[in-house]
Amino acid sequence: MSSKPISVLITGANRGLGLEMVKQMMQSPLNVLFACCRDPDGPKAEELRALAKKHSAIIKIIRMDTADRSSIKQAAEKVGSLLGGKGLNLVINNAATLTYSNVADSTPEAMAKEFNTNVIGPMSVIQEFLPYLRDAVKKSKVPGMSCEKAAVINLSSILGSIESRTQSFTSFQTVPYRASKAGLNMLTACAAFEFQKEEILFIVLHPGWVKTDMGTADADIDAHESVQGMLQVINSLTEKHNGAFLDYKGQSIPW
Ligand SMILES: NC(=O)c1ccc[n+]([C@@H]2O[C@H](COP(=O)([O-])OP(=O)(O)OC[C@H]3O[C@@H](n4cnc5c(N)ncnc54)[C@H](OP(=O)(O)O)[C@@H]3O)[C@@H](O)[C@H]2O)c1
Repeated sequence: MSSKPISVLITGANRGLGLEMVKQMMQSPLNVLFACCRDPDGPKAEELRALAKKHSAIIKIIRMDTADRSSIKQAAEKVGSLLGGKGLNLVINNAATLTYSNVADSTPEAMAKEFNTNVIGPMSVIQEFLPYLRDAVKKSKVPGMSCEKAAVINLSSILGSIESRTQSFTSFQTVPYRASKAGLNMLTACAAFEFQKEEILFIVLHPGWVKTDMGTADADIDAHESVQGMLQVINSLTEKHNGAFLDYKGQSIPW
């Protein structure tokens, strides 16, 4: 991660890649890390609660259901009051759901659920946290774009790549998920263009095929390797990467 102390927010931080990001980011200088999850008191947040207790000056657990706009709004109010005008440097939209079904079998309900969590969620997070990203730009004395200044990283997937679909469709018939990640990709590319003048950087990042609940035990790499790579990529971003679709090794992925 960055060598300078920064403030970071991660959605879906209670397990999988989100939790691994919290663990690895704690090894670098941070002002504050807002670890968001939808059920902070529940059994699935036990490990995050233990980490937050150990690093109580840095980790703040924030309740946020990314499928619920009012929950995102409440989380933003809470984060705003804790930031006290200092600004938020980095937002990582990590939370997502995955449904397996092909086009013939996909239900409107599955498609709506996936879009709600995987596209409308990140859009709402961007909108609600924009004032704090803007505060961070105002506070920064560094020219150009970087994650130390103000950035949004949207966790997407190679399964959202239209150009790559034929290589993976047989094994991953996840049409609602694929469509939602393609939507997230477009949202990110548009945001990169829209907020370029304000020097807020946006990219989509594919973490690899990772052994988590979503990726399953059959995946290629473990969460530690994926997050180590993603943090190196995040750390290296400048304005030349704005609007890019990269993997955890920093390689470009076709749209
Ligand atoms: N693993 C892979 O191979 C892989 C590959 C490509 C892309 N990705 C992307 O990487 C990101 C993380 O994936 P992962 O493998 O860590 O998945 P995961 O193990 O299934 O974890 C998903 C996380 O998202 C949270 N979440 C889901 N819906 C939510 C909601 N409505 N509000 C708040 N949190 C919610 C979950 O919280 P709960 O515990 O409350 O359910 C959990 O913390 C996702 O964006 C995924 O699409 C993963």
